[in-house]
Amino acid sequence: MSSLSVWLILLAPLATLAHPVKPGDYSKQEASGQFWHISDLHLDFSYHLTDDHTKVCLSSKGANASSPGIFGDFMCDSPYGLILSAIQYINASEQKVDFMIWTGDSPPHVPVKELSTKLVIDVIGNMTSTIRSLLPDMLVFPALGNHDYWPQDQLPVSGSEVYTAVAEFWKPWLCEEALSTFRKGGYYSQIFKSNGTSHPLRIISLNTNLYYSPNKVTFNMTDPADQFQWLEETLKLSRQNNEKAYVIAHVPIGYLPFTSFTAAMEYKFNEKLVKIFRTYNDVIAGQFYGHTHRDSFMVVLDEKDSIKELNPDISPSLPLWPPDISIGALLFSSISTLGSNIISLSDLHLLLQL
Ligand SMILES: *[C@@H]1O[C@H](CO)[C@@H](O)[C@H](O)[C@H]1NC(C)=O
Ligand SMILES: *[C@@H]1O[C@H](CO)[C@@H](O)[C@H](O)[C@H]1NC(C)=O
Ligand SMILES: *[C@@H]1O[C@H](CO)[C@@H](O)[C@H](O)[C@H]1NC(C)=O
Ligand SMILES: *[C@@H]1O[C@H](CO)[C@@H](O)[C@H](O)[C@H]1NC(C)=O
Ligand SMILES: *[C@@H]1O[C@H](CO)[C@@H](O)[C@H](O)[C@H]1NC(C)=O
Ligand SMILES: [Zn+2]
Ligand SMILES: [Zn+2]
Repeated sequence: MSSLSVWLILLAPLATLAHPVKPGDYSKQEASGQFWHISDLHLDFSYHLTDDHTKVCLSSKGANASSPGIFGDFMCDSPYGLILSAIQYINASEQKVDFMIWTGDSPPHVPVKELSTKLVIDVIGNMTSTIRSLLPDMLVFPALGNHDYWPQDQLPVSGSEVYTAVAEFWKPWLCEEALSTFRKGGYYSQIFKSNGTSHPLRIISLNTNLYYSPNKVTFNMTDPADQFQWLEETLKLSRQNNEKAYVIAHVPIGYLPFTSFTAAMEYKFNEKLVKIFRTYNDVIAGQFYGHTHRDSFMVVLDEKDSIKELNPDISPSLPLWPPDISIGALLFSSISTLGSNIISLSDLHLLLQL
């Protein structure tokens, strides 16, 4: 991916609340819920201002930074100050939200030899502590990204030092059941309970990095980490329990927004996952991804290619142009009547303060 410091925050209503309800079953009252979405923080801990612009950050990979300032440069990943400023903005915003989703990629885009398992764990720990210290009461549902591992992209299928360490960091947010599947395969699901909703909301955090094309570990497998099986069982139970689900993950399904007909995932995995999403379209109310560093939407069509289903796949990022250092944020403001989803949003820009 590019070496931009790119990330974004979304604020969305709980779309589950707009589902048609069976007469007599529920209160028809629509509560309004919102949540933040942050992604791809890509902390470059080496970032510093210096006259030699090739030395400003490791993530420029020897290229000259263009115009480095205290909040970063467009050839570099995020300096800590940029991330801190954004989380401080959220802290000060006084937006009432129910939770935050965080779709992965904390370490920087640097050559493999510049990182290590320890460094990757430290960076994820640092981001977690930063969020926890500024948003102590925020419930956060995180997902792992392809950079949240060393060497990058090679996320394994049965436990690892990284999964174990990260589960420890995320203990304040996740229940024991969620942590136990996370330690094994880097994925989990957890119910979010809130007042006034017609359905319980289940957050399903997938480790789609297992399906990412550059992942050599899973290349020949049919069901890496048994995640497909687990997902189907989870969605089946959700349907039985009359829940709605939000799927969150890092690597998105479908074609990448900046290429023609190139999927991020291995073709067979993409097909399989989309098939499951189609089967459980009545349960899945929304999908939220990171990784692309682009603001983009995707619609999951039904098999006849009609827009019967509308599962927006929302990938957050900063715009590539114009190159001003502001942090994009989206505010979802209305809800579909098609039975499941969020359909509109407005854009917020978080202005950095010196
Ligand atoms: C970086 O900029 C300096 C000064 O303009 C130039 O001499 C140098 O060749 C550039 N280095 C690279 C790698 O582009
Ligand atoms: C996170 O890393 C930054 C920059 O490397 C450092 O200044 C900060 O103290 C660290 N914070 C935590 C909580 O580890
Ligand atoms: C903002 O951060 C401070 C600590 O720096 C914390 O005490 C306060 O509770 C935070 N506010 C919110 C809304 O999270
Ligand atoms: C739900 O509502 C009850 C009663 O109004 C209140 O005591 C409780 O704190 C609320 N829980 C949440 C998660 O908002
Ligand atoms: C995948 O399987 C094929 C056929 O069994 C084998 O030749 C190839 O080396 C395997 N690739 C990996 C990455 O394991
Ligand atoms: Zn990324
Ligand atoms: Zn990524």
